[in-house]
Amino acid sequence: MIRKYVFGKPFVTGAVVKSIKPEIEEIEFLKKSGNELSFQLGRDDIVYGLGQMTRGINKRGWHYSCYNLDNCNHQEDSVSLYGSHNFLIVSGKSCFGIFIDFPGRIDYDIGYKDSSQMKIAVCGDDYDIYIITEKNEREIVKELRRLTGKSYVAPKWGFGYCQSRWGYKSEEDIRAVAENHQKNDIPLDSICMDIDYMEDYKDFTVDKNAFPDLKSLASDMAAEGIHLVPIIDAGVKIESGYEVYEEGVKNNYFCKDKNGKDFTAAVWPGKVHFPDFLQKEAREWFGSKYKPLIEAGIDGFWNDMNEPAIFYTEKRLNSVMNRIGELSEKNMGINEYFEFTGLVNSISHNSGDYEEFFHNAEGVAVSHKDVHNLYGFNMTRAASEAFEKISPDKKILIYSRSSYIGMHRYGGMWQGDNRSWWSHLLMNIQMTASLNMAGFLYTGADTGGFGSDTTEDLMVRWLQFSVFTPLMRNHSAIGTREQEVYKFSNMEDCRRIIKLRYVLLPYLYDTYLKAAEEDDMMFRPLGFDYHDERSRHTEDQLLLGDEVMIAPVYVQNAVGKNVYLPEEMMLVRMKSANEYTTEILSAGDYFVKMPTDELTFFIRKGKSIRVCEGGKNTAELSDKLFRIGYLK
Ligand code: GLC
Repeated sequence: MIRKYVFGKPFVTGAVVKSIKPEIEEIEFLKKSGNELSFQLGRDDIVYGLGQMTRGINKRGWHYSCYNLDNCNHQEDSVSLYGSHNFLIVSGKSCFGIFIDFPGRIDYDIGYKDSSQMKIAVCGDDYDIYIITEKNEREIVKELRRLTGKSYVAPKWGFGYCQSRWGYKSEEDIRAVAENHQKNDIPLDSICMDIDYMEDYKDFTVDKNAFPDLKSLASDMAAEGIHLVPIIDAGVKIESGYEVYEEGVKNNYFCKDKNGKDFTAAVWPGKVHFPDFLQKEAREWFGSKYKPLIEAGIDGFWNDMNEPAIFYTEKRLNSVMNRIGELSEKNMGINEYFEFTGLVNSISHNSGDYEEFFHNAEGVAVSHKDVHNLYGFNMTRAASEAFEKISPDKKILIYSRSSYIGMHRYGGMWQGDNRSWWSHLLMNIQMTASLNMAGFLYTGADTGGFGSDTTEDLMVRWLQFSVFTPLMRNHSAIGTREQEVYKFSNMEDCRRIIKLRYVLLPYLYDTYLKAAEEDDMMFRPLGFDYHDERSRHTEDQLLLGDEVMIAPVYVQNAVGKNVYLPEEMMLVRMKSANEYTTEILSAGDYFVKMPTDELTFFIRKGKSIRVCEGGKNTAELSDKLFRIGYLK
């Protein structure tokens, strides 16, 4: 059951698809004072949710701020990431969900200042609050999904292995990835093309020197079952003669500054304007720009830098430069020194810059600051709605970096710029469950880690988790250690795991479709199905569908890990479709050996999964299906 409470005159975010009559009584469960909501947490209450956010599955014990941020240096103490998903479930004596539909900033203190208090501060007066009560957490999630709409379903090839790197600079680099996969017998479905395929980082252009014939490249790749997935950035380069820029200016499709001029910020190409994705016409226009790439044989895209990321604005840069000039003439003491070191970093993604531009929302000028969290959502909506027109019969893959609840209807999301850190592997595991609660089923993190140098051990362990996630993409940043698995001495182990992805695909794809169709989650915390204390507090094992439990290793040099079995399960050790063992374990605690050359997972009591013999890509999956598990 959902109750809706309306405060002020909320901006229509597009998150909700079902109309609900608002209540007039006082809000249930929460105390409201001004724009602060509070709830007294019981000792054993768990607070789930917040989608893409730092910390564990249980969000209790820290504070967070939902205000989309390009945060490539995020760590445990970060409070904002790329997406905002204002959905929580309180699970304890009372069990209820809260969804706050508000496109500006919301601050959460979930037992941080006082471990028994949850306080939510909405930074604005106009918002909708939905309180969901159902018989359990899983049903609460389903009810949220019925409110916000069905999750996006990616084309099947989007479930294959993807190799990506910011650093592939030419057609030769892309061909080399494909050849190396073939030569080394490592399955592959797609290769991402990062910003270097463009001419001067201009959206919807192709650098003719580096990629003289994209159409032939795409068709050669397609012949091998490989799809190319180019990146599209939010900012449009300011350059006279550049069609996208000229059209945007002419038709007032860009966000405006307070004087009514097109707002200027700097990102990869230097100075850019931001398309006003809150305008329907601008969405249609931007979406139509994907067409030539689709006609060249492209059928997948990733939308990036759409928080939107701002490297600097001229105004802020000037004031920082002036201040640096003043300080450098001084004998800097402690205060000046700290101010000085903070100044350079303060120019990027400064929330002050979000107050400097405006959207035209159906004729009304709206400050970006107040609708900030909707930008990436609407960029992806623009793409997705255009794809339906451009390619009505063929599904196009689309995933975004920034998001808001509701975007899950239009595309998937990757989990942003993580690092090659063990802690980020654990965060990936935990975040996947939280994102599923918010409706984001098509998700995955940069496998192996994006920033920092990865290690062979970390890569294979990360693959052992990503093998289960819908998006399985190895992606890394320029300047870091190259991490294509064929470059590693443990390639054989990595190959085994990637091949197993294809063995498991019938099960994974079915489970995904079922979750999307039934408004369900693909990955759940143990506490959603088992209510004993141990299960409720398990942070590093997940349930997958109704059949599987996974317990990924996320510790360097580990030979296995402690696993808790809430009930009898079957331990499966798999090296390939033809080489696997099973063993029934009764409920309890185990130290389970988990070598790097096999996949270790658990099948729940009485269940079985349908797998196949694998294949070199999703188009060539073996049709020899068989079952593993409790067979009757
Ligand atoms: C951003 C993206 C990253 C990409 C890079 C260059 O940091 O998050 O995935 O590789 O930009 O385009």
